[in-house]
Amino acid sequence: MSIHSRLVGSGSYLPEKIVTNDDLAERVDTSDEWIAARTGIRQRRVAAENEYTSDMAYEAARRALDDAGVDAAEVDLIIVGTTTPDRTFPATAVQVQAKLELNGGAAFDLQAVCSGFIYGMSVADGLIKSGQSKTALVIGADTLSRLLDWDDRSTSVLFGDGAGAVVMTGVELENGLGTESGILSTHIHSDGRLAELLYCDGGPSTTGQSGFIRMQGKEVFKHAVTNLANVVTEALDENGLESSAIDWLVPHQANKRIIDSTTKKLGMDTDKVVLTVQDHANTSAASIPLALDAARRDGRIKKGDLILMEAMGGGLTWGAALVRW
Ligand code: ACO
Repeated sequence: MSIHSRLVGSGSYLPEKIVTNDDLAERVDTSDEWIAARTGIRQRRVAAENEYTSDMAYEAARRALDDAGVDAAEVDLIIVGTTTPDRTFPATAVQVQAKLELNGGAAFDLQAVCSGFIYGMSVADGLIKSGQSKTALVIGADTLSRLLDWDDRSTSVLFGDGAGAVVMTGVELENGLGTESGILSTHIHSDGRLAELLYCDGGPSTTGQSGFIRMQGKEVFKHAVTNLANVVTEALDENGLESSAIDWLVPHQANKRIIDSTTKKLGMDTDKVVLTVQDHANTSAASIPLALDAARRDGRIKKGDLILMEAMGGGLTWGAALVRW
């Protein structure tokens, strides 16, 4: 008998306000053509002034619980992958816990930037397998619009706000996971020597301000293509699978060209890739669960499908998860 974790529901939330590439071109020297050609992005959502990361995280969590048919009272673990907590402390996760009117179990934030959701699933998977949690909410939520220097065209055109969530439960199986639904494996990595390629130039112990995103775009692009191809190969190899076995690739939605390069390296059909970057831009930790939820709700992802998720972000951090829905 072994314990495995299973994804039983998903939910997502996007702020109402849409900012198009043309809107940005009114502020900085850019164009819809340049942004779309280099990134695939056409528009992004931006949180209202009084809308915070915990508000979006709560909405996504609520929808995931409804989708799963799980009572919030059953949740004993909440992990929020975020780089943009409402406050320096307490964690956004405890604010979500309070909004759900829960006071048991554990809730904490996890900071792995754009890889936060994959890292969160990996940690929840471990806690479920060890018997410390039975029902977990893993949320990716970010308001990166608050970390943008809107006059810097090299970063302001790339990001958007949103939240996505999944409910994970533990299941005891006599003969291992086999072809049952559940998490086959997760893989997480980091290399702190590359921190200067993508960082925020503020923080509580340095400037006391949250700061702005700074990035060496070309270098990040190169590392993303290499690291993502490597971690995807690692996930497939560990499970003795070929890329042809994957029903859906749900990649971090940073840039369509990064996604296309990874898909090509894997030899995967582009029809099997879930793309939301054109509508959402890069929503950091929210991007994978937002894309996952979109593809589940429009009927593309069905029960029994094998899904590969992968992400890379500041740190650098990167990771992958192989999941049967
Ligand atoms: N509009 C118009 N021109 C621009 C813009 C803009 N928004 N931004 C930069 N340019 C200009 C530059 O100033 C430069 O002009 P110059 O040749 O006169 O100096 C020219 O365009 C080319 O700039 P590059 O930075 O070389 O352009 P590149 O082809 O590398 O594209 C981009 C830039 C889109 C940022 C790309 O490097 C990229 O996507 N990198 C990955 C970054 C990323 O996705 N980060 C997210 C977090 S990490 C992750 O999630 C994987």
